[in-house]
Amino acid sequence: MTTMITGGTVVSATGATLADVLIEGEKIVAVLSPGSSIAQAAKDSAEVIDATGKYVIPGGVDVHTHMELPTSGTQSSDTFESGTIAAAWGGTTTIVDFPTQSYGRNVRECLDEWHAKAEGNCAIDYGFHMILGDVNDASLAEMDNLVDEGISSFKLFMAYPGVLMSDDRQILQAMQQCAENGALVMMHAENGIAIDLLAEQAVARGETAPVNHGLVRRHELESEATHRAIKLAKVGEAPLYIVHLSASGALEEVARARHDGANVFAETCPQYLYLSLEEHLGAEGFEGAKYVCSTPLRSSHEHHHADLWKGLRANDLSVVSTDHCPFCFKDQKELGAEDFRAIPNGIGGVEHRIDLIYQGVLAGEISLPRWVELCATTPARMFGMYPQKGSISPGADADIVLYDPEASWTISVDNHHMNMDYSAYEGFEIQGKVDTVLSRGNVIVSNDTFHGASSHGKYIKRSLSQYLV
Ligand code: URP
Ligand code: ZN
Ligand code: ZN
Repeated sequence: MTTMITGGTVVSATGATLADVLIEGEKIVAVLSPGSSIAQAAKDSAEVIDATGKYVIPGGVDVHTHMELPTSGTQSSDTFESGTIAAAWGGTTTIVDFPTQSYGRNVRECLDEWHAKAEGNCAIDYGFHMILGDVNDASLAEMDNLVDEGISSFKLFMAYPGVLMSDDRQILQAMQQCAENGALVMMHAENGIAIDLLAEQAVARGETAPVNHGLVRRHELESEATHRAIKLAKVGEAPLYIVHLSASGALEEVARARHDGANVFAETCPQYLYLSLEEHLGAEGFEGAKYVCSTPLRSSHEHHHADLWKGLRANDLSVVSTDHCPFCFKDQKELGAEDFRAIPNGIGGVEHRIDLIYQGVLAGEISLPRWVELCATTPARMFGMYPQKGSISPGADADIVLYDPEASWTISVDNHHMNMDYSAYEGFEIQGKVDTVLSRGNVIVSNDTFHGASSHGKYIKRSLSQYLV
């Protein structure tokens, strides 16, 4: 089938221009000057999608999601099906999720479980990183096989001692392995030993409310771990990607390393740009549980939010992901009603990233092309999916979003599609709206209707990062 998107402004990571996009089957075959004779001829024999007045952008690439993640005696509340449908509604056409090796288990067995959960159940395309929760000789050896299977990035934890944490020896070993096999180390950079001590002390004092989750996970403990990870990566001669960076001090560490020319990168997430320790995590009663995630929300009395926007402008933060890890308030967040340590960590947001970051364009924090670069193009390059994903160019998958800058609406649990009984962004007024979404040439969202199928999404075998210096 031939489809042509006409009359829109195609926005790429480098600029914006009026152009028509010609699609043949699942692929983009041409980006044409509107009114040109070729465009006119192509239009006559194509199914036309009118994008007049809309931005035409590459489908969003969210490289940090946790669907069906078992944790804290429960599991994240979106299945691959519900989470990828919600992603599609929000203009994201690719996710990269995290199969998780828990302590004492075999990497292959855990990965197989994730393939079984995802296969045939995704509305959009998906890839995998691998979380290593038990770095040992067997997992180190398995890493090379995973790279060959398209899993070219590995997440390690400096937090959660006894559960997922790797010590410095294990981190260095995994980094050395990545130096050999070309994979990217992703780091959850928080000093978990110090955090657990502070958390125990807080609970012993009777400080059990959700806000204490943020108070004990001090920003100094994120900077310290970020610094240590950067130095270990230097010794291990491996590239490093810091996940869910939330604080000014950690950002300074990344900026310094980048200034020194290191292959060090970082992402942040909308919750660290828009939500705060005081207003959200510190909300009345047990409400703050809705905002418990790690790294935690930071204080609005300091300058984390403004610094993160600056980091996004300066490319010390190269990617915006969501760290989508949703839980319902009822029966899930409530597990920690007596003790903040038992609240499942995570916030759902896979549906709202494109809209929330677009508000940064309107506020003058980032440019229109930078929006596309942060939400689609760089994530695709960083994780070996470019130009198949993250690009409107001949040969790329026809994953395309028509974005209406004139529409306005309000985020609410009543209109979202994630499997959550609350929205972390309830009441946020949004200017701009995802209008139409194509995944590999198929219109999966239009006219406020989902037309896709949960069997449509395909596993993406990723190559090595295309972003390294
Ligand atoms: O609180 C969070 N971020 N939960 C998901 C797991 C992780 O550390 O990314
Ligand atoms: Zn993490
Ligand atoms: Zn995560």
